[in-house]
Amino acid sequence: MYDEQNLLLGSKKEIDEAKQGEVLFYDQPQTNGRKFYIESYGCAMNFSDSEIVASILADEGYGPTREMESADLILVNTCSIREKAEETVRNRLKVFNQLKYKKPDLQIGVLGCMAERLKAKLMEQEKLVDLVVGPDAYRDLPNLLAKVDEGEKGINVLLSREETYADISPLRLESNGIVGFISIMRGCDNMCSFCVVPFTRGRERSRDTYSIIAEATDLYQRGFRDITLLGQNVDSYKWQSPDGAESVNFAELLDRVAAIHPDLRIRFSTSHPKDITDEVLHTMARHENICKYIHLPVQSGNSRILQLMNRTYDREWYMNRVDAIYRILPDCAISSDMIAGFCSETEEEHEDTLSMIQYAKYSMSYMFMYSERPGTPAAKKFVDDVPEEVKKRRLQEIVDAQMNMSLKVNLQDVGKVMKVLIEGDSKRSDQEFKGRTSQNKMVNFPKDGNCQPSQYVHVKITDASSGSLRGIIIHTPETETH
Ligand code: SAH
Ligand code: SF4
Ligand code: F3S
Repeated sequence: MYDEQNLLLGSKKEIDEAKQGEVLFYDQPQTNGRKFYIESYGCAMNFSDSEIVASILADEGYGPTREMESADLILVNTCSIREKAEETVRNRLKVFNQLKYKKPDLQIGVLGCMAERLKAKLMEQEKLVDLVVGPDAYRDLPNLLAKVDEGEKGINVLLSREETYADISPLRLESNGIVGFISIMRGCDNMCSFCVVPFTRGRERSRDTYSIIAEATDLYQRGFRDITLLGQNVDSYKWQSPDGAESVNFAELLDRVAAIHPDLRIRFSTSHPKDITDEVLHTMARHENICKYIHLPVQSGNSRILQLMNRTYDREWYMNRVDAIYRILPDCAISSDMIAGFCSETEEEHEDTLSMIQYAKYSMSYMFMYSERPGTPAAKKFVDDVPEEVKKRRLQEIVDAQMNMSLKVNLQDVGKVMKVLIEGDSKRSDQEFKGRTSQNKMVNFPKDGNCQPSQYVHVKITDASSGSLRGIIIHTPETETH
């Protein structure tokens, strides 16, 4: 659920498109002439937060722009998960700072996890940063911006036990109007030893169920057809009404969101292997529109390493969860996150991660080399002793094994007829559509006169690679649909 290379508003392709002509944002607010430009890094939660920030700024009269040169305010929503993520941001700040030399009135702000991790230090290290705002302090932006207008620095990195931004309606910017994301909780209480998130995002808290349902209903009514419920550990979602009379867990939340409309597809991320219950799996089985796809990061396939990581499950427990998923949801796809070369990992322990790919038959995975993060339990207690070359080689072995597995599971789809939600033109050709299956696999297929984005079509799969499927639209659905 994260991609360090992704930018919300500033990707090269989008900037080029913007220069070719006026490209409207999905939501186009009224402005007072001041413009903000925002880039986002890290996980989907950060991208979702940028839409909340955009909404708060729009209320202040700021309009979005895709061209940083025309912005009065440049914001970068940052990620601290690995060292590389922070390096990327520092490089971007250099680029923004060059602009500020030319245009001294330009205001530059750092938001998100790096703001939280480094706090005021960030302003010392990056001299031209005017604004540092942590993930729970976005409501304070108008006040902080007013300070910056007066020539002061603006900083607020207070974490909160309550903030969920439940009442803020996110401004959908880079949206295609079909696929949307809804934050259902914030923070994380798990303390996996390698992870910086509990420090940058604070304590776990769940958002008001009714505000989630209202946001999902609004998206459905505006034409959205595929929404993902976001949290670092969605299975521990638990909301209680203020009077204590009502308590809603994740399975119940899923049930209610799925009931909004059968044509609204529901996805969620991320599931924690220790918390995903059979109740959730049975709820998924009951609703055709809850997508049969679970992102269930294993991190390591070895029990000793899992214990050092403080993941609170072992290899057997994880395998048991995988068995339960395939038993209750036979057509479900599972994906994972894996870390190569965690502290003291031996060759045999690494092999356990490789064999887990075979066991769980992941359709895809996000794979990383361990990157020590200052202040985390692992940084305090363990030595980052697996040499860089060994980490690299192990990561490559994991990537190779996963690529083979992805190809294998995708080839099993050839010949099946799958229900696909059309999302738009395929990357390669405007003669083709792309869309996703319930299992979150991308399918490319030739256009058909009658079909439009946001419609569901049945596609017969004719070919597969490790990254996507190919097919043709079938007008009379065949019996075997998935
Ligand atoms: N809440 C999610 C993950 C959020 S972070 C979960 O528990 O699965 C996303 C992924 O980044 C993690 O799953 C992990 O694989 C990876 N990651 C986190 N910290 C890391 C570190 N210090 N070095 C390398 N990868 C890390
Ligand atoms: Fe980090 Fe673990 Fe929380 Fe995921 S569950 S965000 S890996 S501490
Ligand atoms: Fe997400 Fe990165 Fe923060 S993964 S929670 S943006 S550290």
